[in-house]
Amino acid sequence: YPITAPDDVSHCVNVNVRNPVRGVACCPPASATAPKPYHLPQFSKLRIRPAAHRLTPDYVSNYKAAIAAMKALPDGHPHSWTQQAKVHCAYCNGAYSQEMNGRPDLKLQVHNSSIFFPFHRWYLYFHERILGKLIKDPTFALPYWNWDNPTGMMLPAICEEPGSDGDPRSNPTFDPYRNVKHLPPTIVDLQFNGTAESGLNCVDQMSTNLSTMYGQMVNSAKTTDAFFGTDPNPEIASKAGSIEGSVHNVVHDWVGNPRMPHGEDMGTFYSAGYDPVFYFHHSNVDRMWKIWKDLNPRRHKDPTSYDWLNASFVFYDENEELVRVYNKDCVDTRKMGYNYEPSRIPWVNSRP
Ligand code: C2O
Repeated sequence: YPITAPDDVSHCVNVNVRNPVRGVACCPPASATAPKPYHLPQFSKLRIRPAAHRLTPDYVSNYKAAIAAMKALPDGHPHSWTQQAKVHCAYCNGAYSQEMNGRPDLKLQVHNSSIFFPFHRWYLYFHERILGKLIKDPTFALPYWNWDNPTGMMLPAICEEPGSDGDPRSNPTFDPYRNVKHLPPTIVDLQFNGTAESGLNCVDQMSTNLSTMYGQMVNSAKTTDAFFGTDPNPEIASKAGSIEGSVHNVVHDWVGNPRMPHGEDMGTFYSAGYDPVFYFHHSNVDRMWKIWKDLNPRRHKDPTSYDWLNASFVFYDENEELVRVYNKDCVDTRKMGYNYEPSRIPWVNSRP
């Protein structure tokens, strides 16, 4: 049966994390009405997601204004920064069950399976629309952290630069829980094992990263199941797709602070959404879905199982309305109103 988030979000329960640094009450605000089916709205201009290392000064100030506005909302508001972060916690740490499938005994989990890409696409979709609404810019688009291109392999500078008073803490895109060894100009290690530094110089690290990308986007992604992962199944454990199980997880671990009990913020599900770089990271993960399809349109196809197409999630949209969205409606970013600013993909020539 398709993974289905409950109609009644008040059936959400607090999650279980030992010694949490962030909150574990991850449920969304109650809604007086059941979620409405979501219809992709009309739009006149595509939102174009820019690479985070090439942002214009105007873009940076808009983006920061949007995040600051989000952070200024009361915690209980469905658009607040805290609530946005809690969406991830609720869907990943077992706050919901599969009651809609008659299985209240099973927790709902959106990782380690083919549900990973569509869930995160919808999550970012609403996050982006809410940010745009807060700054009254219907074309606002999230940046993507271009870690697959040598020019974008550092933590995006805007996440660590000082705020207007010279202190990074007043920069709304700063997050206090990051690995200080991995701040710019350190090049990301796309094979980071959670502890040991690779010891490579930056040029070698870049080329190792490109081979890793080739491996995960080409060699290990020849079939739909290999790229997306397998469908969730209550009887047998599903398998993560190539990108989810490798560079996606690795970048989370590489950014999180190893001195925190669970590598908060980025290193663990319940807190990852508190770090603005989470959304930049997932924007690039989402871009990989599109690139993979474009690499070989004849053979690289989205999953077609009934369970995949009809899996559905519940979000608050930019109008504070609770809506239900389906995987089948998120397979084409252009129909959803956004696309990615092009960036070269040198890894296609980096067969290891
Ligand atoms: Cu829901 Cu990057 O994980």
